[in-house]
Amino acid sequence: MLSDNISRDENYLLHFAGQSVTALAEEYGTPLYLMDEQRIRGNMRMYTKAFAENFLPGSRPLFASKAASFKAIYRIAKDEGMGVDCVSCGEIATALAADFPAGDIYFHGNCKTDADIRYAVERGVGCFVVDNADELLALERIAAGLGVKQRVLLRLSPGIDPHTYAEVSTGMVDSKFGAAVETGQAMELLKLSLAQPHLLTEGVHCHVGSQVFDEDVYERTIDIMLPFMAQVRKETGVTLPVLNMGGGYGVRYRESDKSVDIPGRIAAVAEHFRALCAELDFPEPKMLMEPGRSIVADAGMTVYTVGAVKHIPGYKSYVIVDGGMGDNPRYALYKAPYTVYHAGKGGVMMLCDLAGRCCESGDMLQPKITLPADTCRGDLVCVATTGAYNYSMASNYNRLGRPPVVMLSDKGNYVAVKRESIDELLGLDN
Ligand SMILES: Cc1ncc(COP(=O)(O)O)c(C=O)c1O
Repeated sequence: MLSDNISRDENYLLHFAGQSVTALAEEYGTPLYLMDEQRIRGNMRMYTKAFAENFLPGSRPLFASKAASFKAIYRIAKDEGMGVDCVSCGEIATALAADFPAGDIYFHGNCKTDADIRYAVERGVGCFVVDNADELLALERIAAGLGVKQRVLLRLSPGIDPHTYAEVSTGMVDSKFGAAVETGQAMELLKLSLAQPHLLTEGVHCHVGSQVFDEDVYERTIDIMLPFMAQVRKETGVTLPVLNMGGGYGVRYRESDKSVDIPGRIAAVAEHFRALCAELDFPEPKMLMEPGRSIVADAGMTVYTVGAVKHIPGYKSYVIVDGGMGDNPRYALYKAPYTVYHAGKGGVMMLCDLAGRCCESGDMLQPKITLPADTCRGDLVCVATTGAYNYSMASNYNRLGRPPVVMLSDKGNYVAVKRESIDELLGLDN
């Protein structure tokens, strides 16, 4: 099995987080997002432990909540001592509604409106990660108006290719995110920030990409970011105390994917970081990181009911399910791979495409998979590793309600997000 929270019992029934997927589907219906709370907590602890062991006090991992944003996640993050990164007022509001401390929120995004900025400053959001000069000046104006000195980090683009999908590669010089170090725009933004009386420039941020497996990506990033910080000290006399390295560690979507030894990688990154600080005679900054996918991806599974099986002789077979790109657009967006399990059958397998119910030929969950040849209407099919960027990217295309998120916990399962009803869908229409 792809992950050790997936297993089969003696009757070949699929279990997730130790519970029968068939029983869960009977109780909550399909399509259904399942989340394994212990796995989320375990992944968060892995990061907080690695940070405590490897970086200065005050260093911490922040959960990149764009990967999965609903109240239960922020409660868990708070419990586990994580900060969070939010990219919209909606995410901030969700965190605050879950009693997540505003001061532990980092506000990201490359197009924060004046209304967004005011919303976050008024609520005491701890730190803005400022993407560009337009935002910086708007933030200064709004912070001044509210009489606040706002902590900021500046998002830089270090010019690193993390060798991942183009759509989730974000640290190249021509990226839409941040200010490029190579072109001198990062230094300009930094000096502009230092000149603002209502901004406290704490440091710099970068995020080079997501689903990153290459061993040296963060070391190569540090090799750009730390010399930049040393150059800032030289040109301005200011020693920035914080470096945020973004998120990005990859997870296994298929058996053929490597697994990343995250504690081992963090230890190696820290060693490289300390050595370069010593070489540059630069006081070690506090380190922040923003893992999203590697915290929640393997804590998720989506369960569907088969609606139809279609064999097109000489061509292909489709297994069509009651969900699709509405609850998981990642294959449609960038051909993201997934592993698919039948919830209760084995035996002779057939090659097929797992298609969704939306009116788009591109509504595909995964092509060229194998499922039991006798798969039929009413069977349950499960897609693994759907905890990250599935619920959070879900839409109402074709006016389908989004599935519920059921949190599986050894203290008792609970519905973290309810199924979206037709009345709720109609609620916004006049
Ligand atoms: C700025 C920033 N930080 C962190 C993340 C989280 O990345 P991941 O989920 O790959 O860990 C992202 C993802 O896109 C991001 O844009």
